[in-house]
Amino acid sequence: MSFVVPTGSTLIPDLRPEAREAPESGIVEVMNYGRLRQGLIPLWVGEGDLPTPAFIREAAARSLAAGETFYTWQRGIPELREALARYHERLYGQPFSPERFFVTGSGMQSLQIVVRMIAGPGDELIVPTPAWPNFVAAVSVGGATPVCVPMDYEQGRFTLDLGKLEAAITPRTRAMLINSPSNPTGWTATREEQEALLALSRKHGIWIVADEIYGRFVYDGAARAPSFHDIVAAEDRVIFVQTFSKNWAMTGWRIGWIEAPEAFGQVIENLIQYSTSGSPVFIQRGAVAALDEGEGFIAEQIARAAEGRRIVYEGLKATNRVSLAAPVGAFYQFFSVDGRDDSRALALELVDKANVGLAPGLAFGPGGEKGLRLCFARKASDLAEAVARLQKALAAV
Ligand SMILES: Cc1ncc(COP(=O)(O)O)c(C=O)c1O
Repeated sequence: MSFVVPTGSTLIPDLRPEAREAPESGIVEVMNYGRLRQGLIPLWVGEGDLPTPAFIREAAARSLAAGETFYTWQRGIPELREALARYHERLYGQPFSPERFFVTGSGMQSLQIVVRMIAGPGDELIVPTPAWPNFVAAVSVGGATPVCVPMDYEQGRFTLDLGKLEAAITPRTRAMLINSPSNPTGWTATREEQEALLALSRKHGIWIVADEIYGRFVYDGAARAPSFHDIVAAEDRVIFVQTFSKNWAMTGWRIGWIEAPEAFGQVIENLIQYSTSGSPVFIQRGAVAALDEGEGFIAEQIARAAEGRRIVYEGLKATNRVSLAAPVGAFYQFFSVDGRDDSRALALELVDKANVGLAPGLAFGPGGEKGLRLCFARKASDLAEAVARLQKALAAV
């Protein structure tokens, strides 16, 4: 009897639709097109060019050398949860219990867990767009429905129309995913906007999933962006997803945290147990060092990003071919090129003509289609060169 082994592709229909239909990242398509080009300046992904500082790497290395290689607390080691509480106390000027913090394997995993906690099939989650693509994907892979609310756009600046946001709320709505400062637009909610969002959450009984991971990257001299921490009461439906990736240049470490009401401890612990069963202890030791000793490094990164922002904004503006506004927060310049509406084609073309890698706005959902995102968390000389190349290429596209 012959036994026919089906090829992989014939088995695909047997996969769960939410998994097989998960969208491919529109950023990765452009990266794959350009990643082997000699001399390409890569400004397409959301990370800087600095490696993690030595004091963080050394704390992790000491732990590894000491043999801290066993299973550990699902919620995170007590030392890290205490360090998180101290960090929050310093940043927000109020007391925090370590019991509010849950260590995860990244900001992305924090988002996955939070979405799984609050929404499932039949539920809707509102995402203002353009937005980090993983918000929409995490919701749909989890079986819930993302509802995109395009932000208003005028002369390079995005604004959130709270009336449109409220109009998108239905009896099925479970949450709003609010990313401020925003990747990719740099939009940063004011205190008044956050108060209005919180009022919507209270009025409709829906969650705010607050992603404030870029909250330290603001350019008006303030220590941080406005935060829901400034206005929430204990009984509010607000959960924070967070990461070590950006403030401490730890993108490759894969470590983040959730901040949620203490009472959710067992639920979150169980969801961590059934995904990673906890983050490696030596990675967590590095994270403790980052929180306790990292302020100097953060200040350096912000000063560097401020300079990068200036170079990119002024350089692109000088082309007279683009619409853009200097971003209020985060470390991305979002811009559109007059007369060019197809961001995918343009991003591919700029790989060829400028040898600069940008993310196509299309990847960020409704409202982003015509734009390009440039990450300026990079050394000034690279950015100056990238801008010079873009100036030349934009004169000809
Ligand atoms: C808005 C936003 N939230 C969360 C993350 C998650 O970061 P990570 O998974 O590296 O912790 C990112 C990463 O780019 C992001 O841009």
